[in-house]
Amino acid sequence: MTQTQLTIALTKGRILKETLPLLKAADIEPIDDILSSRKLLFETNHPHIRLMILRGSDVTTYVRFGTADMGIAGKDMLMEHLAEDNHSKDKGIYELLDLNIAKCRLMTAGLKGQRSDGLKRIRVATKFTEIAEQYYAEKGVQAEIIKLYGAMELAPVMGLADEIIDIVDTGNTLKANGLEPWDSIADISSRLIANKASMKMKHEMIKSIVEKIRPVVAG
Ligand code: PRP
Repeated sequence: MTQTQLTIALTKGRILKETLPLLKAADIEPIDDILSSRKLLFETNHPHIRLMILRGSDVTTYVRFGTADMGIAGKDMLMEHLAEDNHSKDKGIYELLDLNIAKCRLMTAGLKGQRSDGLKRIRVATKFTEIAEQYYAEKGVQAEIIKLYGAMELAPVMGLADEIIDIVDTGNTLKANGLEPWDSIADISSRLIANKASMKMKHEMIKSIVEKIRPVVAG
């Protein structure tokens, strides 16, 4: 009988460097040099395990559809995905483990010294539109959400928006553009996730990977 295939979706960039030692702890190593290669699909030391390299925002999509059985995604992406899923009944993802890597915060921010709590209706630029809708609705603030795909910091500077919702790590990007952090929405880190159907059908394989990674993840 052929062994069950397992596909894991990872994110390119700085998170990948921190992810590889965790996979190694689970005895999963890509055959090619995943950090320098332009390939997007990698075989591993296990013939039945493959790694995919995706944009962060696409990991939840591949895992939700079961095209990837497991994935590593930022909590920000998971929150956005969950908020999106609130519109449908399909909640196809389990969050298995906080990997405690790529830690940062999801925050509102705006021009330094120009915070106004008195605005009746505000304009907010962000790529996290679902989180934003939910956040301002809960606060009872009327917000017009403008979707951007990057360089959110420019929106208040150029007068496109009153504030932004974005990831803040060191705060240097905000500072360099004359902005300051305002409210914290959530603490973010990378999470190990799995497709719900895969979790049933490939339970032993997934469980064994989780149990090998768990001890090396700082609590
Ligand atoms: C993120 C975020 C900010 C920056 C914050 O962008 O969108 O621009 O990092 O980091 P800092 O607080 O340390 O300055 P990233 O570099 O991940 O690129 P992206 O916006 O394309 O995802």
